[in-house]
Amino acid sequence: MQRIAVLTSGGDAPGMNAAIRTVIRTGLAYNKDMYVIYDGYRGLVEGNIKQVNKDFTQDIINRGGTIIRSARLKEFSDEEVQKKAARNLRDYDIDALVAIGGDGTYRGLAALAKQGIKVVGIPGTIDNDVGSTDQTIGFATALNTICECVDKLKDTSSSHQRCSLVEVMGRHCGDLALFSALAEGAEGVICVEHKLKEDVLFKRLRKMKTQKKDHAIIIVSENLLDINELAKRVEEETGFTARTEVLGRLQRGGTPCAEDRILAARLSAHAVKLLIDGKVETGRIVGIRNNLVVDYDIEEAINMKHEHTHGLRDLIELLE
Ligand code: F6P
Repeated sequence: MQRIAVLTSGGDAPGMNAAIRTVIRTGLAYNKDMYVIYDGYRGLVEGNIKQVNKDFTQDIINRGGTIIRSARLKEFSDEEVQKKAARNLRDYDIDALVAIGGDGTYRGLAALAKQGIKVVGIPGTIDNDVGSTDQTIGFATALNTICECVDKLKDTSSSHQRCSLVEVMGRHCGDLALFSALAEGAEGVICVEHKLKEDVLFKRLRKMKTQKKDHAIIIVSENLLDINELAKRVEEETGFTARTEVLGRLQRGGTPCAEDRILAARLSAHAVKLLIDGKVETGRIVGIRNNLVVDYDIEEAINMKHEHTHGLRDLIELLE
């Protein structure tokens, strides 16, 4: 194993740069030639590949986003496109690829493993929806961002005695919603794992009105319902004036928190060490389990379900 490349793919996440930094520095420490691929799998197919040295990693640990950029490439499911990507790596004599992203990124890696490239995946997405890890790089920062926003909203919701409905990201995973609801002591949370019924929510809000509680925060996961429609019904059914806030891509930006930087360093160093120690036959995925760094065969990892939020859901129900 002499030449290793790294790319980032899918939605960007805070901490991806810290991961890139560790991948490159670990490889260099073991005298490997290190490459970056710009624009995710698109850059790989287009041959946007560059050799880098330590200078490339200076002052990126605290930067949000990904300095090698990211993309979503639907065409990568086409075998001919995958073959072209593998050919491009071989043209540079690159034997191994490390990719930082989520499940979609891992599927791309699995396809490249079938083309004979040694691959390692590192979980990086704000959604925390990857089955083979307890936590993804970017989740902690995004959660902090949501909390900062909701703290601010509480001030104005309280001044105007309103109910604020806040839509958070997560694709089809409720972790950002559940964790932020718990951290904010929200009056309600609606997500895949906790589908709070409307009549229960309305009853709760009506009771709050009679108890003179001046405002309420309801956290709603994206892709579940129309938050504006829900706000209308809240007004009709509860007496609260309601406002909606879709936090959107604000949740993906910003300086990565220390927790994400450290997670990125631990996972990324392990990923490169697997390659250097000859432990990657075809493909491996790294993750964190009970605060220990682990790795799995790529096919096994892709089929793992993310389901460690159940304890949290029970806690939320207890506190509601
Ligand atoms: O996977 C990260 C994520 O931010 C999801 O939470 C969201 O559903 C999706 O990406 C949005 O993607 P895009 O920015 O490509 O529209």
